[in-house]
Amino acid sequence: MIPPKTIEEIKSTAKIEEVVEDFLNLKRRGVNMLGLCPFHDEKTPSFTVSPSKNIYKCFGCGRAGDSVSFIMDHEGYSYTEALRYLAKKYSIPIEEQQLTPELLNEKLIVDSYYLINEYAKNQFSENLFSSSEGKNIGLSYFKSRGYVESTIKKFDLGYALSDGKDFISKALKSNYKKEYLESLGLASKSGYDFFRERVMFTIHSISGKPIGFAGRTLKSDKSQPKYINSPESEIYNKRKVLYGLYFAKTAIRKEDECILVEGYTDVISLHQAGIENVVASSGTALTIEQIKLVKRYTENILIIYDGDSAGINAALRGLDLILEQGLNVKLVLLPTGEDPDSSVKNMGYEKFKQYLADHAEDFILFKTRIMLEEAGNDPIKRTRLIKDIVDSISKIPDTLKRSVYIQECSRRLNVDEEILVKSTNSKIRSEIKNRQKQSNPDMDYNEETALIDKQYAVSQTDRYTKGDEFQELDIIRILVTLGHKIYDEESNTTVAEYVLANLNGILDNFDNELYQRVVNYVLETTKNGRNLVPNDFITHEDEPLKNLAITLLSEEYSYASWENKGVMLQTQKPPDENFIKDSYQAILRFKLKKVLSSLEKIEKEINTTEDTEKLKTLIQVFNHLQQERNQVARELNTVVL
Ligand code: GTP
Ligand code: MN
Repeated sequence: MIPPKTIEEIKSTAKIEEVVEDFLNLKRRGVNMLGLCPFHDEKTPSFTVSPSKNIYKCFGCGRAGDSVSFIMDHEGYSYTEALRYLAKKYSIPIEEQQLTPELLNEKLIVDSYYLINEYAKNQFSENLFSSSEGKNIGLSYFKSRGYVESTIKKFDLGYALSDGKDFISKALKSNYKKEYLESLGLASKSGYDFFRERVMFTIHSISGKPIGFAGRTLKSDKSQPKYINSPESEIYNKRKVLYGLYFAKTAIRKEDECILVEGYTDVISLHQAGIENVVASSGTALTIEQIKLVKRYTENILIIYDGDSAGINAALRGLDLILEQGLNVKLVLLPTGEDPDSSVKNMGYEKFKQYLADHAEDFILFKTRIMLEEAGNDPIKRTRLIKDIVDSISKIPDTLKRSVYIQECSRRLNVDEEILVKSTNSKIRSEIKNRQKQSNPDMDYNEETALIDKQYAVSQTDRYTKGDEFQELDIIRILVTLGHKIYDEESNTTVAEYVLANLNGILDNFDNELYQRVVNYVLETTKNGRNLVPNDFITHEDEPLKNLAITLLSEEYSYASWENKGVMLQTQKPPDENFIKDSYQAILRFKLKKVLSSLEKIEKEINTTEDTEKLKTLIQVFNHLQQERNQVARELNTVVL
């Protein structure tokens, strides 16, 4: 626990420009400082630091905040971790609050564990580079894999000698506790080294501390496991660790994508080849904790499978977990007999990157294809396949994404769209029911059904509203409840002005007449330079408009933001705290919906027109709209198929 007064001290001492400059170069530009944004890829700097306000803001991607949030975002730290980082930077002592003897003891143990692992890491490294056994067997093995010395050092690779007591006797001589050596899995109860005659891979925490080891035998003897790992301890929880994340995190953020491979050697080879946004789940199935870890840095995962991966279907099933977290998943299958390690060596950086780009396939479509090939015309297998795909789709929290998938899968599976919609809904419905039961087992039966029906009704309306009403209403919600807030301080733009400016050209495209009236009202008054506050709406003389505003401003409604409709899988900040992202996304969703509707209309016309001249124009418009759709969808991070 950091005492509040220390938190205050840290926040007031930390200078944003000094904090940021540890990670990127800033140039003075008037009162502000400017640099290339570390959070998105850009060629011209739009990352602005304001020393006087002690904040930063990127005008490219919209990220903004203070020193603490910069460190949280940039390093993937928690709030407390970021505070500790800054405290260290500015040498502000943190007096831990209410440290009980138990806590103190635990902290001491944890500290010793890190020290011991650090010691072990150095021993293994020394063995590798300085002992004749290490050099002859370990180092020559790594070199034969193509690892250069800087890579070997960077990843803290090492070697455990065959002697059997070498490590433990040195460690005991250096006064490390036997008990701790055992808990960390460095020594066995009977007093022998746990890792013997193996090349060693150090496993790092997100901040780069050694938390465990993996040892690979170099013998082909099948009676020995190829890899052995440190056991779980206070500092090493396998479920929460992704191998290589410490080295990959910056690149993952930059590329806005995390590549997931199978093993230690794959991570290291790709890294050495220049592909740094790569981690491994180290042989085990991906856990929810690991996915959440990735989510701190990006929403996009690319999984590379070996060409001969056994049980790929089983693996695919596990991936629903990732969908559930709202991440976008793509898969790449390597040529038979290849793994990432060998591929990147054979192809080289450029070709390998190109291969990934050419072969990355959306997870659900990949799954559909693979299973379709397998099922052939067997009706039983086909039924199971459809059920399986529906299961996956129902895991996606975003309604719009779900409906895009449903459309595409219905085409590929040759199944009526309505059937897929119904099965997906019923799956979601039973999922909600399960969750409710789990979280509130004592709920009265009637209460429960009422609640489920209410939520189901919401998702149904959403799904079956063929028109654009939902997206329209969302814009109205933003205008009424958030319109008066300042979107951008620098230019003193309000949310309303921002929304209107961004919808320029489609402002009179609202299908719902009432919503159109709201837009017109806002448009007119803002033109005259007035900033509308919520009260202006609820005292409006237009009775339906007034009632709509009251509903929108009632707490319950404004909190039930768009993404929460349909499925209650995602917890989200109330729009009040999140209104910049909220309004930005609402605009994009509105645009996307309008483009999709136009596409649908034009497609119909294309199918019915007999006039060839008109057909040409229609197709041109269609192509143009498709590009626009892709662009908006990309910005919204939504799949378009
Ligand atoms: P080669 O490809 O044969 O050169 O070996 P490799 O060291 O790259 O390992 P491999 O490709 O066979 O395995 C990939 C990953 O699976 C490894 O990095 C480990 O995480 C995991 N793995 C393989 N064998 C074992 C094992 O015996 N035990 C455990 N716990 N994990 C293993
Ligand atoms: Mn391998």
